[in-house]
Amino acid sequence: MKPVPPPSEEDALRPHSFDGIREYDKRLPNWWLFTLYISIVFWVGYWSYFEWFGAGQTGGQVVSTAMARIEADRLASAPVDDASLWLMSQNPNFVTAGKVVFDSNCSACHLVSLRGKGESPAAIGPDLTDTGWVHGGRPTEVYDLISKGVLTKGMPTWAPVLGAKKMGEVTAYIMSRHKEGDPIVRETPPATP
Ligand code: HEC
Repeated sequence: MKPVPPPSEEDALRPHSFDGIREYDKRLPNWWLFTLYISIVFWVGYWSYFEWFGAGQTGGQVVSTAMARIEADRLASAPVDDASLWLMSQNPNFVTAGKVVFDSNCSACHLVSLRGKGESPAAIGPDLTDTGWVHGGRPTEVYDLISKGVLTKGMPTWAPVLGAKKMGEVTAYIMSRHKEGDPIVRETPPATP
């Protein structure tokens, strides 16, 4: 940084005077102006990224994403029981992955809404979002049913097709439409035509 040159005779004097102290009307140094302009340009980019477009994550979001990922890693190797499946159903990593599995493998019969016959009588599979369950509504019962299927009724056996990871994810996705403690109403299976 160059030293500020002493005021030249051309620098005009400002009109005010404080206790006899006068002030030159000096141009601000270039390095100072440069910093100001750069910060204005930076502000426009920063503000639009976080506030206008909402593209950037806030600190809180970064932390909760990281926490969800850490919990997902832990749950992925946890034994499959009701407690771990309920936790998976509240974990965005499992639910998002489970939706992908569901939409490509299950929606043909249960519909993308999961509501199956509850939404359209033409659907093959039953509603997976209501309180009525033919085979039980505890997470492990749902998991086991998906694993084994009900071949006589047209529900395929999924465990060999999906593998353990996707089985957990898709069960988590279905259970994310339910809450722990929701009533479980036993339904009799519809008669096969
Ligand atoms: C070819 C059609 C078909 C596909 C594909 C299918 N299902 Fe089913 N699903 C059914 C039918 C039919 C039933 C009813 C079985 C019964 O009544 O016993 C059923 C029942 C179920 C049930 C038990 C519901 C209850 O009330 O107990 C669950 C859970 C389920 N399916 C999940 C899935 C998942 C998850 C997938 C994808 C991985 C899937 N289904 C794919 C046809 C299908």
